[in-house]
Amino acid sequence: MVGRKMLRLLETCPWVEGDPLLLTSARSAGSELVFSGRTLACQEVNSSSFDNLDIVLFSAGGGTSLKWAPVAEKAGCVVIDNSSAWRMTAEVPLVVPEINPQRILLKPGIIANPNCSTIQIVMAAAPLDQAFGLRECHVTTLQAVSGAGQEAVQELLEQTRIYPKHEPKDSAYPRMMAFNALPAIGKQTEDGGYEEETKVLHEMRRIMDRQQDLHITCTATRVPVLHGHSAALRLVFDQPVSAQDAISVLEKTSGVKVVANPHDYHTAREIAGKNDVFVGRVRPDTGNPKALLMWVVADNLLKGAAWNAIQIANVLAEKNKK
Ligand SMILES: NC(=O)c1ccc[n+]([C@@H]2O[C@H](COP(=O)([O-])OP(=O)(O)OC[C@H]3O[C@@H](n4cnc5c(N)ncnc54)[C@H](OP(=O)(O)O)[C@@H]3O)[C@@H](O)[C@H]2O)c1
Repeated sequence: MVGRKMLRLLETCPWVEGDPLLLTSARSAGSELVFSGRTLACQEVNSSSFDNLDIVLFSAGGGTSLKWAPVAEKAGCVVIDNSSAWRMTAEVPLVVPEINPQRILLKPGIIANPNCSTIQIVMAAAPLDQAFGLRECHVTTLQAVSGAGQEAVQELLEQTRIYPKHEPKDSAYPRMMAFNALPAIGKQTEDGGYEEETKVLHEMRRIMDRQQDLHITCTATRVPVLHGHSAALRLVFDQPVSAQDAISVLEKTSGVKVVANPHDYHTAREIAGKNDVFVGRVRPDTGNPKALLMWVVADNLLKGAAWNAIQIANVLAEKNKK
């Protein structure tokens, strides 16, 4: 799903010379995809696939990235990796271009794209941290099934179609997904959490260059939405911050669209297909003048994955031009 989005976005990049090389597993080799009106055949990835390429976008799971990203790096490519394989590796930059673009050009090699939920949360939280000093971030996510890949989307559609006659058996989900909400994304962790929640915590701190002094809690839930993650945030600052103060900062943040009316909001359905991060319901926490509540929505396949990767590639291409 992410790979196809990347292909569409690449069609709009002026720096793409000729056709991109489309690399796949053996299973998909020979299948065809359209790029700028031309039909291109996919090729199975092999050890010489990366020779003479500049930028390689990986979007085929952690195992594939662990195996092939070092091969591409050795061949002289810059790798932009969408999986979680390299995100916590110290020498690999973890980048959201609006927040820490300076890390893109630190050294050639592998650059990691953060987790989809992390990206949209940090897009709202980091500018407010810069302005007011962020002390705590408490978040509950409501994540679309496309975040779990193409098979998960197909299974939700099928569960919805057969409900209530049949209960699903061998499922991509821990429990029935249709007409439900599941507070369990990824593997279980020893502290009673789930992997997705740990990713948000560690990745946010890395991108914002903060450590234990930024207290983060996350409950990640999967909901029967096809595209677009939502997140309910409670942010606690070092000082009292009004909703209007926060809105003024977010209005000036590139890649963020904010609505000022506290009763107004965007939904996943409305913003699917858009590159920005959308913030609404910005309002005070009546129990604490230093805290604010807000609702943050973004297309997980675009800003949460493909668009963030293409933005990184745009920065690299701009540098190569100079
Ligand atoms: N979906 C999201 O919202 C999202 C957001 C952020 C990051 N990501 C990350 O992006 C990656 C792709 O996610 P997705 O949602 O696009 O998953 P997807 O729809 O399941 O697609 C995965 C693709 O990887 C290919 N693949 C599997 N093994 C391969 C191999 N050995 N060599 C080459 N290609 C291989 C698959 O092709 P075959 O069918 O031929 O196996 C398939 O086309 C994952 O690492 C995911 O964690 C996804």
